[in-house]
Amino acid sequence: MSEHAESMRTIWYETEGDKVCIIDQTQLPHALQIITLETLADACRAITDMQVRGAPLIGITAAFGVYLSLKQNPQSLLSACQQLAATRPTAINLQWALTQIQQELQALDTADQIGSALSLARQLLADDAGACSAIGDNGLQILKALLKQKQQSQPSEQSGENACLNILTHCNAGWLATGGWGTALAPIYKAHQAGLPVHVWVDETRPRNQGASLTAWELARSGVPHTLITDNAGGHLMQHGMVDVCIVGSDRTTRQGDVCNKIGTYLKALAAFDNDVPFYVALPASTIDFAVNDGVREIPIETRSADEVNYVSGLADDGTVKRVRISPPATGVSNYGFDVTPARLVSGLITELGVYPANVEGVAKIAEAMAADQG
Ligand code: MRU
Repeated sequence: MSEHAESMRTIWYETEGDKVCIIDQTQLPHALQIITLETLADACRAITDMQVRGAPLIGITAAFGVYLSLKQNPQSLLSACQQLAATRPTAINLQWALTQIQQELQALDTADQIGSALSLARQLLADDAGACSAIGDNGLQILKALLKQKQQSQPSEQSGENACLNILTHCNAGWLATGGWGTALAPIYKAHQAGLPVHVWVDETRPRNQGASLTAWELARSGVPHTLITDNAGGHLMQHGMVDVCIVGSDRTTRQGDVCNKIGTYLKALAAFDNDVPFYVALPASTIDFAVNDGVREIPIETRSADEVNYVSGLADDGTVKRVRISPPATGVSNYGFDVTPARLVSGLITELGVYPANVEGVAKIAEAMAADQG
């Protein structure tokens, strides 16, 4: 594992003490708290309450959850997988990881399942970090080309914000959401490390504010220039030539290249399309659901608690984290967690296997590359 991925991990296993550790993302950015998952219930709760979140990360956590369950009860493979699968409905990585682990373990004697579950979970974590690093390398080529194009098209005396590549991202698709590097943020980290002048517009991402609390925290920690914006600002920035490219992640990608991601992604894609701003989606191939074609009609969209919309929490002037209500008590709330961006609005899919068009042919090529990679 590279130095970057090694120092930026959100879940890891400690051999000493046999511990599965996570960063509790509900406490960021105000506190960096590490907690230990000890039981299947801990793993399920961590996913449901979003102590861990992000499509690849919930799949990895589920795999460790199977290990924790088998340690408690060696006969619990099936029920553990069922409970973990029920924690969140939209990101396919969860089902993908559980299917992989269940298939491998079912073929073994019960006595051998515990050790193998741990090995598989650790392998999944390492593989995801590797895939995200490759996404970063592939995305970096796109950023280099866009920067070159921008520099060639503007007078050499241009300076300040305009001299760098302005990238807009939504939600958190960084190392906190994956085994390492991130998906949408991986090309940005690679570009920053390579000395490319980049600046990131960070959507706050209501209602849980993953942009404000997680993406901003990650980028600040790495010294990547960035600016936090309200979710509604992106269209305006694009109209005024202040965004050169959008890069977002994906929780589920369909056979025809539709992309399901955090609520609000679709509106950014529409604004990008209207303003000729390239709109890329970065994803590991584990995010593709080959059983689904039409994302808008077929992907189950998670709805979450009204409390997430009714309340905001943050650091009060007295230094404590406080939760306050922002709406009248009698007002009804709807809280959809994700939306689907149709393939026609997507400029390309940045994967660990290369960059592909977001259409049936492109996704079929990813499938071919996956088969070649495995065989
Ligand atoms: O509800 P969350 O925070 O789990 O949603 C996460 C996202 O929507 C990310 O953009 C997505 O998982 C892509 S990936 C790393």
